[in-house]
Amino acid sequence: MNQPQSWEARAEEFSLYGFTDMPSVHDRGTVVVTHGEGPYVVDVHGRRYLDANSGLWNMVAGFDHKGMIDAAKAQYERFPGYHAFFGRMSDQTVMLSEKLVEVSPFASGKVFYTNSGSEANDTMVKMLWFLHAAEGKPQKRKILTRWNAYHGVTAVSASMTGKPYNSVFGLPMEGFIHLTCPHYWRFGEKDETEEQFVARLARELEDVIAREGADTIAGFFAEPVQGAGGVIPPAKGYFQAILPILKKHDIPMISDEVITGFGRTGNTWGAETYGFMPDAIISSKNLTAGFFPMGAVILGPELAKRVGDAVEAIEEFPHGFTASGHPVGCAIALKAIDVVMNEGLAQNVRDLAPRFEQELQRLAQKPNIGEYRGVGFMWALEAVKDKATKTPFDGKLSVSERIANTCTDLGLICRPLGQSVVLAPPFILTAAQMDEMFQKLEAALDKVFAEVA
Ligand SMILES: Cc1ncc(COP(=O)(O)O)c(C=O)c1O
Repeated sequence: MNQPQSWEARAEEFSLYGFTDMPSVHDRGTVVVTHGEGPYVVDVHGRRYLDANSGLWNMVAGFDHKGMIDAAKAQYERFPGYHAFFGRMSDQTVMLSEKLVEVSPFASGKVFYTNSGSEANDTMVKMLWFLHAAEGKPQKRKILTRWNAYHGVTAVSASMTGKPYNSVFGLPMEGFIHLTCPHYWRFGEKDETEEQFVARLARELEDVIAREGADTIAGFFAEPVQGAGGVIPPAKGYFQAILPILKKHDIPMISDEVITGFGRTGNTWGAETYGFMPDAIISSKNLTAGFFPMGAVILGPELAKRVGDAVEAIEEFPHGFTASGHPVGCAIALKAIDVVMNEGLAQNVRDLAPRFEQELQRLAQKPNIGEYRGVGFMWALEAVKDKATKTPFDGKLSVSERIANTCTDLGLICRPLGQSVVLAPPFILTAAQMDEMFQKLEAALDKVFAEVA
């Protein structure tokens, strides 16, 4: 085999890329990364990048946390792999479930493990279908989510995701209904107050339930802050308006906390930050601080009881993954929770969030920034051609990609999403590193806006 020479050429020759703009890769080459140092990653050429996306939101303790690495090594030496089928599971799995219920907003509950956030959402949907059928409502199967939601890529979680790109797969499947995205700045109508906007979304939910029939709706899934939708915090009072309607119609509310979990919004859960109590939580990413692929469904007391009863009735929940509750993943997750909560990481997010916001507020004065939005350590700046009318740039200009590419050239990784640039750094970021992030971002914004405006 004639092997291409450079890392970049080898990557392109033999790898298929997920969610990657291929013309950009052909043009600029792949960034091939070898290792990390704190919040930085280093490529094969020795270039350092401040990763203001924490990998994919998940490497919250940085890329070389010694305690995390030691916990993984120790568990690999003790017991390197097992499952959670047939009435067996590892001691680490038992301990992690206890810990997850303890740190959840629930007084009691039960946990089921997967390998990813997508699988956790799929699992939750299957659990709801299973539960409603066992309770004599096999037709209670439809799933409500919102436009701009991101719940994953498996066939079910992609159907839940409210993004037009899934049409290339012929998705969503039937029975997945997307409601209005609660982004007031973008979807509020002319002269509509935020309160009126929320009331309109609540009415929409009532109308959809009336049209479809509550007995056909299995559950409502929502990210507290829509992450991959472009970091969209809910309009004020949104969850308070939605939850009573769901409760009234016996529609479980599932908080997809794959991004917002374990401190990203400044509290352990996004549900806490926005003051609502879900029926279940979906967790992944930060659960292991990105050191192991793992997802979890955390059921609150009522669903835990109902699902438990349904399982007893047919003597089995016929679902699970080979690596569900993997002992190394569980040991890593136990350590990650400890590190985030007890090594000052969650506190650092709370301490530095005001400075983060202040800097964004300053950048948002630029004529081509329409909005800054976010919370804790997850924020976005939205580029606009015209600030007053909120008119976006022509898509062909690829403004956010150009900003992100210019940042990469300057040694900063940030993520283009639609016309927004997303910043979600590791929780270990220092104030000085935050300054570095903003200096590089501002230089990139000024360069690109000078080219396109
Ligand atoms: C809110 C949310 N849910 C689910 C997922 C899917 O997780 P995974 O990529 O681990 O399948 C993601 C991934 O970004 C996410 O942001």
